[in-house]
Amino acid sequence: MGNTERRIARCLALFFMAAIAGACAAPDPRQNPRQSPAPTPQRAATTAATGKEQKMQSTPEVSVFAHRGFRGIAPENTLLAARKGHEAGAGWWELDVAASSDGVLVIMHDDTLVRTSDAKRLFPEREPWSVYDFTLAELKRLDVGSWYGGTDPFGQIAAGRISPAQAAAFAGERIPTFREALDLTKSLGLKVNIEIKDATGQTCDAWIVEKTVGLINELGMTRDVMISSFNHEYLRRVKKACPEIDTAALIDKPIADPVGRLKELKAIALNPNAKYLDEATVKALRAAGYGVLVWTVNEKADMRRLLEWGVTGLITDFPDRALEVLAGH
Ligand code: G3P
Ligand code: MG
Repeated sequence: MGNTERRIARCLALFFMAAIAGACAAPDPRQNPRQSPAPTPQRAATTAATGKEQKMQSTPEVSVFAHRGFRGIAPENTLLAARKGHEAGAGWWELDVAASSDGVLVIMHDDTLVRTSDAKRLFPEREPWSVYDFTLAELKRLDVGSWYGGTDPFGQIAAGRISPAQAAAFAGERIPTFREALDLTKSLGLKVNIEIKDATGQTCDAWIVEKTVGLINELGMTRDVMISSFNHEYLRRVKKACPEIDTAALIDKPIADPVGRLKELKAIALNPNAKYLDEATVKALRAAGYGVLVWTVNEKADMRRLLEWGVTGLITDFPDRALEVLAGH
């Protein structure tokens, strides 16, 4: 190799290293005031989710999250459920990220495919039907829509809100890849709360966080998402991979010093189980400038009570109810 060729090779190597290092920062308009867009509904929603401006507002905005999409009226964690959430007027949807055995991020809540698909029928030999054991091609063969009509999970067919014909039309819904979910989110102008499932013990535990962040960056969506997880180490990994992505710490039972935990994680919000939440915790978090995005709240009376306490987000299977409550709040 001559001197000129060596110089070209060195330049190319430096270019690729810079491109990889800059992948996280590239789409963030906050880093460059000249590119800062005028406030949009999406930016306002982020503020609402964090609650950071509440001290300056007499009535704080509250974000509504369609939980696994509008799963009250459509099969959960499908693109159809996301569309239904958007049609209802929710600014956000929530989804659960897992991974296929061949390394593709997919949207699925349970570890096993049994409850929401026909995996047992199609793959009778594959007990326990763990999502992590199936290739993407196999997962894409599954019908994740028919179970809704078969089980009427929220009684919406019995109540007459979803007709049997509508439920029958859910047949053939497919497990979305995470890329497909982000593409739809972007095209609808929605925002998405990405819950990374705790994959401890699975091969993908080593890369599920970084792959999730990588795709968000690739699609230029760092400002349109937040990442949440019960695995708080994952949230540390998110911040390491891409500090500008907002994170929220999911908890079930109360934890000691939630404000201290959020501070340490550099998270913007606590996402607690409504069942175990108390007013003092909400007040302490709000006073410290953190958001409180509570799950899973489906009854209007509970929504009203939580709003009185000062929560900044309602994660619900019925976003229509949350929006009605907010309209009268
Ligand atoms: O993100 C809120 C909620 O989704 C957490 O629990 O089990 O429904 O994913 P889960
Ligand atoms: Mg979830």
